Amino acid sequence: MKVKIVEVGLRDGLQNERTILSTAYKQQIAGKLIRAGIRHLEVTSFVHPRWIPQLADAEQLVSQLPVNTAVTYRALVPNCKGLERALPTPVNEFAVFMSASETHNLKNINKSINETFPVLADVVNLAQQHGKKVRGYVSTVFGCPYEGKVSVSRVSMICEKLFEMGVYEVSLGDTIGVATPAGVKEVLGDLLTQFPAERLAGHFHDTRGTGLANAFVALEMGISTLDSSFGGLGGCPYAPGAAGNLATEDLIYLLHGMGVETGIDLDALCETSLFAGKLLGKKLPSKVLQSYVGV
Ligand code: HMG
Ligand code: MG
Repeated sequence: MKVKIVEVGLRDGLQNERTILSTAYKQQIAGKLIRAGIRHLEVTSFVHPRWIPQLADAEQLVSQLPVNTAVTYRALVPNCKGLERALPTPVNEFAVFMSASETHNLKNINKSINETFPVLADVVNLAQQHGKKVRGYVSTVFGCPYEGKVSVSRVSMICEKLFEMGVYEVSLGDTIGVATPAGVKEVLGDLLTQFPAERLAGHFHDTRGTGLANAFVALEMGISTLDSSFGGLGGCPYAPGAAGNLATEDLIYLLHGMGVETGIDLDALCETSLFAGKLLGKKLPSKVLQSYVGV
């Protein structure tokens, strides 16, 4: 089995932190993650800096990332304004995002679901004109902090629209970490009748401790792209109660235990999270990190 790990800590992780890290520290973390073996790195977002001040340095950060042709750098772009900021930079690919629930979509990107489709379609179109690939994110797939349960048919409709626009993959977000393995089986069971597993990814927040179990179920169902965050950082400032993503350390430990080769050095990853935790002034939640005693 081959598993693609998308490290989202510099974006999803830092966007929810009270402490704003300097660009230089973010660059150091990126370098350490790459030296630990991470190859797919979501580094920042070209969103409005007033909405996410933690990532206001997007242009500066991406202009000084390590040059490494083996690494794919990705950034979130909410609209063409964001893409126009990102296109001249060394970012390799982009991600558009929207929510399966109206209220979260509105709170997060200030538009209704129907108003969002043409905005994202323009982004994907413009990115493709520049030869760039775009991933799509659907948030609140397993539940919304404002509306509760979200229907699978709504999620499926949004996936369909995103694929029609031309995204190469849709990452299914458990934004507030409410999913359980049974729920993941139900939702994925439905979606996999419509979309091939290779075009779906899992993005599990670990608010209630089910992130790893959910990722395991997704793997068993054939999903081989999983998002995770060093140390288990993460959360969406516009989704109250959202805690960190599934920790990359915990996911790597599970995969190595299953005999899946990831190319990622767990000790080096833990060292990176310890470094980041010191900068943020807190202990990061990854379980594997708690047990790490140093090299
Ligand atoms: P808006 O206020 O509706 O924007 O915000 P607008 O289009 O009306 O424009 C208003 C002003 O903002 C204009 O400037 C624009 O130029 C400017 P003015 O003419 O007034 O001077 N503007 C921008 N400036 C810089 N960069 C831009 C940009 N766009 C417009 N890209 C907007 C709409 C989408 C911009 C705003 O709501 C926003 O930035 N939201 C981002 C929220 C966010 O980043 N949330 C977290 C990421 S999603 C997530 O974490 C979930 C995920 O992890 C999956 C999961 O867990 O479920 C992906
Ligand atoms: Mg997220």
